[in-house]
Amino acid sequence: MKTYRFGIIGCGLMGREFGSASARWCHLTGVEFRPEIVAVCDTNPAMTSWFAENFPTLGQVSTDYRELLGNPDVDCVYCAVPHNLHEPIYCDTIRAGKHLLGEKPFGIDRQANDAIMDCIAGHPHVFVRCSSEFPFFPPMQRLGRMIEERAFGQVIEVNAGFLHGSDLNPDKAINWKRMVEYNGAYGCLGDLGMHTCHVPFRAGWWPKNVRAILSNIVRERPDRNGRRVPCATWDNAALLCEAVDPDSGAPFPLTIRTQRIAPGETNTWYLEVKGMRACARWSSTNPRRLERLLYEPGGEQLWERLDMGWETAFPGITGAIFEFGFTDCIQQMWAAFLHELHHGRPASRFAACVTPAEAAYSHRLFTAALRSQEHGSTETVS
Ligand SMILES: NC(=O)c1ccc[n+]([C@@H]2O[C@H](COP(=O)([O-])OP(=O)(O)OC[C@H]3O[C@@H](n4cnc5c(N)ncnc54)[C@H](O)[C@@H]3O)[C@@H](O)[C@H]2O)c1
Repeated sequence: MKTYRFGIIGCGLMGREFGSASARWCHLTGVEFRPEIVAVCDTNPAMTSWFAENFPTLGQVSTDYRELLGNPDVDCVYCAVPHNLHEPIYCDTIRAGKHLLGEKPFGIDRQANDAIMDCIAGHPHVFVRCSSEFPFFPPMQRLGRMIEERAFGQVIEVNAGFLHGSDLNPDKAINWKRMVEYNGAYGCLGDLGMHTCHVPFRAGWWPKNVRAILSNIVRERPDRNGRRVPCATWDNAALLCEAVDPDSGAPFPLTIRTQRIAPGETNTWYLEVKGMRACARWSSTNPRRLERLLYEPGGEQLWERLDMGWETAFPGITGAIFEFGFTDCIQQMWAAFLHELHHGRPASRFAACVTPAEAAYSHRLFTAALRSQEHGSTETVS
C-alpha cells in the first residue's frame, strides 16, 4: 500500500469533503494506494480546527500556503479556494513540484487558465487534474460504458445540466460565489459548468460553437450586515452548442444548462443522450436510476429503468444493493486521481478526473458564451 501525503489548501466545504473521504479510505477494497492528510492551510484559522481535532496524521497547520508548499513531507495538494486564487496558488503548487488536484473552474477566467496551462506544460513530471465527481455515480458509469461500446449509434442530441434552487430566495445573503471579483465573469457557468462538460468532453462531443442566454435575475442581495449590495454574477445560463459525433461525423445539438435559480432543484445534475440505436438519461434527483431505450430498427420504442446500487468503478465494502451518494462519489473521484497518479493511466475512460486540456476547453466554451451573450450572436469556440 503506497501512501500519498497530502496538503489541503482551503479548508471550507470541499476541503472537508476530501478530509472525510480520506479518513474512511478503508471503505475501498483492492486499491494499492491511500491518501494521508499531513498538512492543512486556510487563511481563516477557525477552518483548520476540525482537521486538527480529527486527523492525528496532521503535522502542519498554517495560514500561509507557501509554508505548506515548502513542506517536504507533502507529496500532493488539494486546492479548494475561491476562483480568483486558482491561478497563483495552482501555479505555485506546480512550481513546488507537488501533484495537484485543483478545483473547477481551474482559473477565474481564460487568461488565468492559460497561465495555469503554461505552468503545467513547463512541469511535465507534476500530475495535475481538475475535480469533478458526478461521473462516478453508478448509473453514469454505466452510461459511460454505453458510450465506450458505441451503443447509442449516431447521436441525435445530448442535454447536460446542473441546477440549484437555493438562490430563489432573494434574501439569501451574498457570498464570494455571487461576487464577480472572487467568482469571475462566468458566474454560474464557472461554478457549475465543468460538471456538465466532463462526460460530453470525455465522450469526444466537443462544442464547435455556442449560442448563449445568460440571466442575472436577482441583482441585489443583503450582505452580512443586511445592507443590500449589487449581485452582478450570472444566475442562470442556457447554452445551445453544435457538437460533432466522432463516429458518424454528423453535427448534433448539445445543450448545457447551469442554473442557480431553478425552482425546486437542490443539487440536480443530469445527462440525457439520444441516439439512433439507444437513448439513456440520468438525474441526481433519482440517483440510483438509469433510464434506457434500446432500439432495433422497426422495433418497439420502450423506455426501461434500471435501479442500481453500489456498483462502483472502485470496489468497496458496501453491499451492491445499497444506495450510493455524494460522499461516495467524492471518494471515488479521489480513488480515480490516485489510481492515475499511481499507475500512470486512468482506471477507465469514464473513471477519471477532468484533464487540464478538458478544463481548458471549458474556458474556451464559457468565454465564447460570454461573447455570445454580449452580442446576441452564435460564437465559434476558439
Ligand atoms: N467539486 C464540487 O462539487 C465543488 C462544490 C463546491 C465548490 N467547489 C469548488 O471548490 C472551491 C472552493 O469552494 P468551497 O465551496 O469549498 O468554498 P468555501 O468558501 O467553503 O472554502 C474556501 C476556503 O478557502 C479559504 N481561503 C481563502 N483564501 C485562502 C488562501 N489564500 N489560502 C488558504 N485558504 C484560503 C477560505 O477561508 C475558505 O475556508 C471552488 O473552486 C469551488 O468552485 C467544488
